[in-house]
Amino acid sequence: MTVTPRGIQEIEVADKRVFVRVDFNVPVDENQEIVDDTRIRAALPTIQHLMDQGARIILASHFGRPKGEFKEKYSLRRVAQRLEELLGKKIFMASDCVGEEPKRLISQLKPGEIVLLENLRFYSGEEANDPAFARQLAELADIYVNDAFGAAHRAHASTAGMAAFLPAAAGFLMQKEVKALSEVLTYPKRPFLAIIGGAKVSDKIKLLDNFLDKVDMLAVGGGMANTFFKAQGWEVGKSLVENDYLDFARHLMASAPEKGVEFLLPVDVVVADRMAAEAQTKIVKPEAVPADWMILDIGPATVQLLEEVCQESRTVLWNGPMGVFELPPFAQGTTAVARILARTEAVTIIGGGDSAAAVEQAGVAEQITHISTGGGASLEFLEGRELPGVVALAAK
Ligand code: 3PG
Repeated sequence: MTVTPRGIQEIEVADKRVFVRVDFNVPVDENQEIVDDTRIRAALPTIQHLMDQGARIILASHFGRPKGEFKEKYSLRRVAQRLEELLGKKIFMASDCVGEEPKRLISQLKPGEIVLLENLRFYSGEEANDPAFARQLAELADIYVNDAFGAAHRAHASTAGMAAFLPAAAGFLMQKEVKALSEVLTYPKRPFLAIIGGAKVSDKIKLLDNFLDKVDMLAVGGGMANTFFKAQGWEVGKSLVENDYLDFARHLMASAPEKGVEFLLPVDVVVADRMAAEAQTKIVKPEAVPADWMILDIGPATVQLLEEVCQESRTVLWNGPMGVFELPPFAQGTTAVARILARTEAVTIIGGGDSAAAVEQAGVAEQITHISTGGGASLEFLEGRELPGVVALAAK
């Protein structure tokens, strides 16, 4: 899929009211403090461009899942503060996303100034993609820009519906994400290796199916590898297994060689007597998991194998952790893969979500070619699906 929406750099924005849909859905801790501002920083090139061009900037985002009601916990005020720090500039925070107050704030904006609207999901019309709500939002502006790649898999009023009412363009982040992920799907440098992890096969079926036609090597790790072990007749003790997907796993393993794809599974695993940071652990071969133990990470020989195949590859795409990386004793495989990707000369692409977090935690984000800011969005894109947010822009 190669859809190339018009870019923000191609349109005249000076003095115009520009509505920019961003994805400021950032993780927060129990005190509502932002723990990772990557998504806010990722929107800065678009915001800076609009400031430089003298646009009147209206930023809008969802935050969490408040289900169509105002809830203080889901206010974007904390994001406004962080954005002020990052830009060194006053952000006018609106207490709503539609109605008189945002209209007044927007009418008072001088060129280069910024209003941040309150959480779009305080209205049920947002997720319902209600045309009346989309029109209300559109009436605030002269131009619509979508820079929210992380929400581009949602067909919501602000991510898709609004494009029908205004001249529309993609922001720089949206363009960068679509370009990087399209390139890896359409003309990757070969050999092309995909490392796919995560807990469940069922979450990654479409991705695995799509990749079998695209990659040269496919390495599966994380909890989902257990289903592949069991599909070969190995006992995996108390490990997570999806018995409904054993046939799918067998089919995938049989199809890989027919399609010329080298299929790799972990050659050793870390097992534990329970899922806890203080559990007893040992390293065993996957065909020798003790009956009462569970697989929680890949082992050192697998890390070595992944290092070797990464060195042979010219493109490496990674999506999904290799173990239960929230618990330190089982984070080593995931952290090791992050470091391997950082070391290789290959083009490296990280699907968002947990693998992106692991790369940040390992302190190697700078060495990765592209880290997607979208978890669900990058997964759907890599599955080969069209994203409503991208389609709406491309249709203009
Ligand atoms: C995300 O965090 O993946 C995006 O912001 C989309 O959020 P959602 O899953 O609540 O739609």
